[in-house]
Amino acid sequence: MKRLGIIISGRGSNMVALAEAVANGTVPGTEVAVVISNIPTAGGLELARERGIPTFVHDHRGVSREEHDRQMAEELQRRGVDLVCLAGYMRLLSPWFISEFENRILNIHPSLLPAFTGLDAQRQAFEYGVGYTGCTVHLVDRQLDHGPIVRQSVVPVLADDDVERLAARILAAEHRLYPEAVNLILSGRYRIEGRRVLAT
Ligand code: GAR
Repeated sequence: MKRLGIIISGRGSNMVALAEAVANGTVPGTEVAVVISNIPTAGGLELARERGIPTFVHDHRGVSREEHDRQMAEELQRRGVDLVCLAGYMRLLSPWFISEFENRILNIHPSLLPAFTGLDAQRQAFEYGVGYTGCTVHLVDRQLDHGPIVRQSVVPVLADDDVERLAARILAAEHRLYPEAVNLILSGRYRIEGRRVLAT
């Protein structure tokens, strides 16, 4: 069995999408070993507990970034995690953590990277006036929203959209995309050439 560790900060809908994909066999041979949140009140924690997934809270306040990340890493390693999935984790990881799990951390971001990095990507895209946006799953490197792209999904911006409607359609696309990307990485059937992740 491959073991996923999912790190969240909020409502956890991508975490639930991954957990459901694991439970219904869309991501076969896998279990969710732990859900970690840096926010004690994150709604996703309860959703994980309801599914019988072990949860762990590590509040980042009052400790350095690296110390916080070392504590998360200890938890992930203790549970034998093969792949770390950031699912709405709204903090930067330390260089130490990224080296410790090199090429074993995925992030999902609600835009077609490299456009609209950082916070509120759906609003950034809407206000910029693009005709198409979407979501990206990428390997995490030391720069924000930057590592090699594993999968992307395109979402058109409709004439009668507002930010909320657009964000809801992007979120639905995220929920389909993340399990696909996890499957590819866990299968090991890919190689990285520069910034390109190529299926083999
Ligand atoms: C998702 O839209 C995810 O792509 C985004 O936060 C949301 C979390 O929702 N992540 C980022 O913006 C990271 N830069 P969720 O908690 O319901 O999965």
